[in-house]
Amino acid sequence: MKKAIIITDKNFIIGEVDKRIFGSFLEHLGRAVYGGIYQPDSPFSDKDGFRNDTAELIKELNVPIVRYPGGNFVSGYNWEDGIGDNSTRPQRLELAWGATEDNQFGLNEFTDWAKKVGTQPMMAINLGTKGVNEAKDIVEYCNHESGSFYSDLRKKHGYSEPHNIKLWCLGNEMDGSWQIGHKTAEEYAKLACESAKVMKWVDPAIELVVCGSSHMLMDTFVQWETTVLEHCYENVEYISLHSYYSNYVDDTADFLANTLQFDAFIESVITICDYMKAKKRSKKQINLSFDEWNVWYHSNGEKIDKWSKAPHQLEDVYTFEDALLVGGMLISLLNHADRVKIACLAQLVNVIAPIITSDTGAWRQTIFYPFFHTSNLGRGTVLKSIVKAPLYDSKNFTDVPTVQCAIVQDEENKKLTLFLLNKDLKEDIEITCDLRQFRNYKVAKSIVFNHDNPKAVNTEVDPYRVVPQEKKFADFEDGVLIMCLEKHSWSVVELKKI
Ligand code: AHR
Repeated sequence: MKKAIIITDKNFIIGEVDKRIFGSFLEHLGRAVYGGIYQPDSPFSDKDGFRNDTAELIKELNVPIVRYPGGNFVSGYNWEDGIGDNSTRPQRLELAWGATEDNQFGLNEFTDWAKKVGTQPMMAINLGTKGVNEAKDIVEYCNHESGSFYSDLRKKHGYSEPHNIKLWCLGNEMDGSWQIGHKTAEEYAKLACESAKVMKWVDPAIELVVCGSSHMLMDTFVQWETTVLEHCYENVEYISLHSYYSNYVDDTADFLANTLQFDAFIESVITICDYMKAKKRSKKQINLSFDEWNVWYHSNGEKIDKWSKAPHQLEDVYTFEDALLVGGMLISLLNHADRVKIACLAQLVNVIAPIITSDTGAWRQTIFYPFFHTSNLGRGTVLKSIVKAPLYDSKNFTDVPTVQCAIVQDEENKKLTLFLLNKDLKEDIEITCDLRQFRNYKVAKSIVFNHDNPKAVNTEVDPYRVVPQEKKFADFEDGVLIMCLEKHSWSVVELKKI
């Protein structure tokens, strides 16, 4: 059997996990909102029209923030269309995705729903077709107590207390030519900086995310971040990153190696932030918001009926191997806990999502599970893990470690949890990990997520085809943890103090 070792130490601290790295994203797109979380005519819905079955699965995922309302959608959105009397809300042509938006769900419904599922809103503003004025107005509507036009309008709409939304995104993917109101770095940077300034004048307690590149392969990557931070450094707290991966050519080894690019993207953006910190002689550190990440490609090329309402759109049916890459990206996020403070799995329901709904209920896609494990068990302090495992080369990557690992210590509950990915498609790997500092711990839980068929999926008729299992594959004796990781598998080992 192949062998690997993992070296760690309780003093090798990367950083505290900011729980917001287990965030997600809901866009007015396809059936994410309508038919996903909100469906007044469904037997699964509560009196407010929110689907209970979906809400239960979201609670299982333990998602502390949800980014809303887009995405590309937000760059053409008028937030005032979605407030006040439902019967007078306008129907609009939604240009980003070619559908009709009837605005029955808007900002206030979203904050109500967020309370129901126990999450916090992360609100994006429109910097495509709108600007400084709207940026100021929406913060006033949401966060100002009373005694001004927009705060009193909120009260009139039945919300006497401010929503107090803490986290705001300054537009979405403004570097992309597909974006409504696409801008050059200079144009965007100036608008973002001025919007940030007035938003903080209205509420100095908010935190802001400025748009970075839509992905690492954009021609403007680096130049975009540098320009944006040159203008906005002192006005924002975070810069965004987005990445989606695909396996069009059916090369699973190469597909799983994409975590190397994911890591490189994070590390490049950290470098740019710190370059700008030095250039500006600033004491402030800009952190990262990886606010769109996932696998996305199964639904590409689909056709929808133009201007239909809530069509089936971007409903990727995820395979088992997709879940492995999602697990790998979660490990990468944890291992950058010192700088990645926010991350959003894109998206949450129906649209490239871990949860799918139909008229018969809601079910968990394969990618649900690694997120569920890390979000529920990966809270605490990340310890650095040095992995010495066999390497492989693939079409686009060299020296890809077959094993990826993140180790999270939860001192309060006296737990140590290891998240592990074996990317070897042919062989199991035996791992030895010296944990003598945790000698008085024992294995409390060991979970394997695997399937013989990397293309296996969960569907409405077979929703439990690909599920994790509790299984004994880890022995802990005299402070040495020995684990046998099955080929192409995701594993979790939780140690607990005796
Ligand atoms: O998540 C789907 C889309 O991907 C978002 O609307 C956009 O921001 C990104 O390109």
